[in-house]
Formats: sequence, structure tokens, C-alpha cells
Amino acid sequence: MIETIQSMSDYHTAYQRSIDKPEEFWSEIAENFSWYRKWNDVLKWDFSTAEVKWFDGALCNITSNCIDRFALLTPHKSAIIWEANSPQQQSKRYSFKELQIEVAKFANVLKSLGVKKGDRVAIYLPMLIEGAIAMLACARIGAVHIVIFAGFSSESIIDRVNDCDAKVIITADSMVRGEKKISLKEIVDEAIGQVPQIEYCIVLKRGEDNIEMKHGKDLWWHDLMLHADSICEPEQMNAEDPLFILYTSGSTGKPKGVLHTVGGYMVYAAYTFANVFNIQKDDIFWCTADIGWITGHSYSLYGSLLNGTTTVFFEGVPTYPDHGRFWDVIDKHKISILYTAPTAIRALESFGDSIFKDKNLSSLRVLGSVGEPINEEAWHWYHKNVGKGNCPIVDTWWQTETGGILISPIANVTNLIPAFATLPLPGVQPILVNEKGEEMIGNNVEGNLCIKFPWPGMARTIYKNHGRFVETYFSMFPRLYFTGDGCKRNEDGFYRITGRVDDVINVSGHRIGTGEVEDAVGSHPNIVECAVVGFHHEIKGQALYIFAVCIDAPMQVAALKKEVETLITTKIGIFARPDKIQIVKNLPKTRSGKIVRRLLRKIAEDDISNLGDISTLVDADIISEIIAGKMSV
Ligand code: WTA
Repeated sequence: MIETIQSMSDYHTAYQRSIDKPEEFWSEIAENFSWYRKWNDVLKWDFSTAEVKWFDGALCNITSNCIDRFALLTPHKSAIIWEANSPQQQSKRYSFKELQIEVAKFANVLKSLGVKKGDRVAIYLPMLIEGAIAMLACARIGAVHIVIFAGFSSESIIDRVNDCDAKVIITADSMVRGEKKISLKEIVDEAIGQVPQIEYCIVLKRGEDNIEMKHGKDLWWHDLMLHADSICEPEQMNAEDPLFILYTSGSTGKPKGVLHTVGGYMVYAAYTFANVFNIQKDDIFWCTADIGWITGHSYSLYGSLLNGTTTVFFEGVPTYPDHGRFWDVIDKHKISILYTAPTAIRALESFGDSIFKDKNLSSLRVLGSVGEPINEEAWHWYHKNVGKGNCPIVDTWWQTETGGILISPIANVTNLIPAFATLPLPGVQPILVNEKGEEMIGNNVEGNLCIKFPWPGMARTIYKNHGRFVETYFSMFPRLYFTGDGCKRNEDGFYRITGRVDDVINVSGHRIGTGEVEDAVGSHPNIVECAVVGFHHEIKGQALYIFAVCIDAPMQVAALKKEVETLITTKIGIFARPDKIQIVKNLPKTRSGKIVRRLLRKIAEDDISNLGDISTLVDADIISEIIAGKMSV
């Protein structure tokens, strides 16, 4: 097992070694895995062409490391626990041994349909154990999985399948989220007519409804599994063979197919999981992210299983059947690590303390946050109410492209500062650069966050478009990986992510991080969530526009705005005083919970003639409401 960091002195030693002797450092960690053949070179890299290879020449299979090893060591231990949408429905658990059998069977099913090493397989499933089985079965035979979040439209499926040329798609007849039932198969059916490359659609039966099996392509999961062999030898993969493609949105163009490879990703996901969460033998880990996102890939699935840790999949939503559901799931399964997003934390915060009535939560040991900057208010609420003041919060900064966590506290080791991702993990060499690409040396500086040295989990390319990979990440600042995020390093060298760089606002020559302003505004007792964008200002260059969501509709809007202004001027400075504050019912968000600032920026700029694609929003109607409400600002 991976030896983990237990003290700051361990951390400094490991970090220094990872800088001085990166190849030695990572090859030692890689020794914890089973390989059919070891690597020729630990690392070959050139950031000017964005060519990076880790453990090239080595042969391995990620599933022998995350399943077979533990099917021998701890066969009866739960690998995955599934909690249904409805608390009335029985939860399910698969031991490592059972998972091994199911994965082997499904891998044989894929083989019988002609899927071979290198072929792409699309997966359009909610949070089900079968989703994990499908992903792992692909990895077993060397097929490349493309998980499409089961909240995307049929058009998004078409775009992705066309881009990656998947030959099989795996879905279910339906899924349920809260009170809502969604017919996944119908959505896939709408897409299938337009993606002729799909040869088969495998359908998992969940509901009692009789759905139509069409196109001569549809096959039932259970029929295929009936006679499938329960042994499937893992395909021997080169460490640099692709493991998966995951589509992610950038600031321009269509979603990019971010490609991750087998060996480096495996080593990095496992290492970061074990360290960041300070993993113990009996941990029950619950990451609330969907397998459709990178967090679901790296930590709900791979990172946890690679460490032999029990992972929980939850199909439901935090507010069904009531606002205490998260705590019920934690108490029921004795979850020791909760890893969730600030959006969820803030949403729950707005329901008040009664949501904790009769909940225990004493099984929790570590809390995690991911996906966006966590504001101080939400951090304290999470720490006090969920962690009861004695669980460290690991605020983990990373991206789809980074494959795993890059900057984060190590639970029970790193000093915590609310809203700070704190320190780089071993192997991660962050650098802050100014607009000209010059390094900001020393502490107490702020700049564009770049990484100057490769780490094993980094994406290798954008599928079929290496040019776009180079252009997006390696050309803004030559020979540096550009994250697109702004970041501050404080007097102690601790990092605080300030938000996407395109969200940094320059007011009268002062650079203001939207995250900081949002923190200040969010500390108002009646404000649960807010977004700050810049808009053109004749004199200041840019000015701040605040969209805020209140817990209770304010009686005196003018008074509330004044209080918000005072909070900002006292917490940041007079230069950060906003020009506009609008109270809104909700913020426009994608299904993954990200606030779509692009739209708010357009509204703030009065540039509403062409808002672009708003189909990815959870609630598109909110846009017209905000536009209408703008009159009163
Ligand atoms: C943001 C999610 C602040 C950041 C894993 C990044 C964060 C983008 C944090 C990647 C964090 C993620 N603090 N910001 N702890 N984690 N972000 O690809 O802007 O969905 O660039 O990966 O989310 O989002 P992605």
C-alpha cells in the first residue's frame, strides 16, 4: 500500500524529493502497483509541444490494481455501496470479489460484441454500480470509456459520440432524481438515428415500464450477462495507452475531449486519494460527484478502489425526500469521509439548522470540498455543522485536465485556512506568472496559476486535436501548463484560488478576485450565494456587478445593499465597492452546479441580444427573470 504523509516534516521531505528527484520519487510510488512489465523511462516531456509520457513502455491494467488485488486481499470487503434515490429502496453492496466477477462478465459481453482494445465506448448512466462496472469493464479490455453525464441532452450525446466515434453506448431505461423520473433510453433514442457509428446500445433495465427496443441495435444488459463468462484476463496496456476521454467545456468552442492515459493516471489518482484524505483501512468514502465528471472518475471510482477503500454511490439528490438526506446517508452507511461541492454546502446551509435534527454524523472524520472556490462563510458552516468542529476540511483544487488533485491540504497534517487550497501536493510545481508570463517570485503575490513541471495524472491531449491542446494550455505562457485560474500566494506560501482568470476584474487598476468579493458578500447573514462579474465602466475601466441570492426576501432592499457594500469595503477595500447589486431568486447554473458567469457578464453588460447556448442550464427561465429584475437595480 502507498505510504502516506503523516506530518508536516513528512510533507516537506516528500515535496523536496519530488522536486529534486521526480523520477525517483514517482517510480517508488509506482512500485506499489502491479505491472506486467516495468517502464523504460519514468518520464519524457516537452511542454513546448505538450508531449508528456510517464512510465512509457510499462505494461499494466488498472483493473488488476483496483479489483484483482483486493479480490485476493479483502474479498468480502465492500467495494461499492449503492444508495438509491428513495430511502425506502434497499441499498446494494458489492464486495471486491463480486465486483471482480461482474466486471469480468461485462468485459466478456463487450468482447462478444466486437469491442477491442482502443475502441471507444460511451456510457450514459446515472450513479449506479453498473456505471462503475461498465467503466471498469472497458478498462479491463483496453477500450476507452467516454462517460456522458446522464443529464446531458441528446444533442450533447450526438456531439460527443461523433467526436470520439464510439461504437457502443450503454444506458438504462430510466433514472430517478428526487420526484423526477427521466427516460434515459428515449434521450439516447433521439441521438442514435444521427450517430450511425453506434453498433449496439446496451440497456440496463431498472423500471417496470415496457420500453421499446429499437433499431436492431438495442440489447438488454441482463440478457447479455446471463451466459457471460466470469473470468476475463486483463488486457496488458502500455502505460501511455488511453484509459478514458472526458468532455469538458472551455471558454471557447465545443467541449473538448480530454484524454487520460492508463499508467500515470492510475498512480496519481491513487496517490492523491490516499494522501489528501489521509486514508485509513476502514474508511467509507462518499464523494457526491457523479461519475459523469472527473471527480466521479478519479475519486468515486478509481482513486478509492485503487486503495481498497469502500466507495459510496448515491443516485439521489441532497433534498429528497427532505433536506436531511445527506446526513441520513452518512449515518446509515457510517461514512467517514464526505467529499462534496460548495454549491451543495451552500444550498443546504440555506435551509437552516433544523436539517440536522436527530442526525448523528459522528462517523465523519474528514470533509472535502471541490469544484469551485469555497467561500469562508460556507467553509465555517461546513466545519461547524457537518464536521462538528473536529473534521479537517480539505479544499482540493484541480481540474478535469489535471486528472487528480494538485493543490490541497493533507487531512490531519496541513494547517487549514478557510478558503485556501493551501499547499501543492508532492510532485506539483505551481508557479504564478503575470500577464507577460514573468514569474511572481516570493510570497504575498497574485497571478495566473501555471504548473511548470509534469505530474503523472495530467491529460495527454485533446482527442484528435493535439493542436488545440497545445493552444489552450501551453501557448498562453510558453513552456508552462496554464490552468486558467487566478491564484494568490500568501505570506506563508499558502495558495488561494481566486477563480477563473477571465473572472478577475480590474477596477480602477486594482485587480479584484471575484472569489474574494463573493466571500465578503456571502458573509452577510441573509445571503446564501452570490456571483460577481465585471462590466464596462467609463471611468474605472471595469466595475463590479453583484447578483445575490437571499435566504429570506429582504424587507428593505436598499438597506441590504448598503450592508453588502459596507461588508466589501471593510473586508477588501473601498476600491472594491460594487456599482450594482441585484437580488435574484437563483443563479444560472449548469447541471454540475457551476455558476454560468458568462451569462451574468452579458446581462451585466446589457449585451443580451445573443446569449448563446443556454441549454446546459438547470433552469433556463431564471435568465429572463434576472434580465427583468435588472430594471430595478
Ligand atoms: C475550479 C473539477 C477553487 C477551478 C475538479 C478549476 C476550484 C475548475 C477548486 C475545474 C477549488 C476546482 N477551489 N476552484 N478547490 N476546484 N475549481 O474541470 O476554476 O470541473 O479550473 O474539475 O474548477 O473544473 P473541473
